[in-house]
Amino acid sequence: MAAETSSTVRVWDLWTRLFHWSLAVCFATAWLTSGTWQSVHEWSGYAVAALVAWRVLWGLVGPRQVRFSGFVRSPATALKHLASMRHGREPRYLGHNPAGAWMIVALLAGLGLQTFSGWLSTTDAFWGVGWLQEAHGFLGNLLLALVGLHVAGVVASSWLQRENLARAMITGHKRAPGPDDIV
Ligand code: HEM
Ligand code: HEM
Repeated sequence: MAAETSSTVRVWDLWTRLFHWSLAVCFATAWLTSGTWQSVHEWSGYAVAALVAWRVLWGLVGPRQVRFSGFVRSPATALKHLASMRHGREPRYLGHNPAGAWMIVALLAGLGLQTFSGWLSTTDAFWGVGWLQEAHGFLGNLLLALVGLHVAGVVASSWLQRENLARAMITGHKRAPGPDDIV
């Protein structure tokens, strides 16, 4: 975490930011071309798979704020965070908050499964297998719902914390932590 000015600090490294917005573009492309433009669908899907694989690696060796061991907390802590959000009394985390963290884990796992099932359905052994195609289509819609919840969580947290979190994912900078914040 490098200091920028006295009032903001850098939280998200360049690679994590590039990863995030590339993932959003590739996911949107795969989703919008599903069932219509198969070659683009498959290549954007493979790009999603590569991005997810890279992020898992980055989650093991990257900077502390994006390392899984640095931001994934117990499910009980995540539920407590959601409950305190309802009263607007949640603590401010400089990195991912515990509820957002589990959403990130769910998105990465779901995207991994989605791209794997897509690839599987192109192999000789599973070509034209109905249940697999249905599972792939269902998971695609489920992922879209999760992305909707993810963005709703970002908007809610931004409002409660009085900080534009989407902009922070572009610039990498957030307000410097106060004495009560969790870094
Ligand atoms: C306009 C749409 C989107 C916005 C505004 C947005 C915004 C954000 C923000 C602000 C964060 C950081 C949250 C925090 O401060 O803790 C984040 C993280 C994340 N988002 Fe999104 N997001 C969008 C779309 C997506 C999509 C489509 C996906 C996946 C399909 C996605 C997956 C993720 C993941 C995996 C992270 C964790 C980043 C990391 O640590 O590597 N997001 N998003
Ligand atoms: C995040 C990535 C992906 C998403 C969100 C996604 C989503 C979807 C959805 C929603 C459908 C159902 C379309 C329909 O029934 O009209 C579909 C179909 C399909 N997808 Fe994906 N997919 C992804 C990645 C992949 C990958 C990596 C491959 C393979 C290389 C793939 C191969 C296919 C195939 C073969 C179909 C069936 C097309 C058909 O009905 O003829 N997908 N996908």
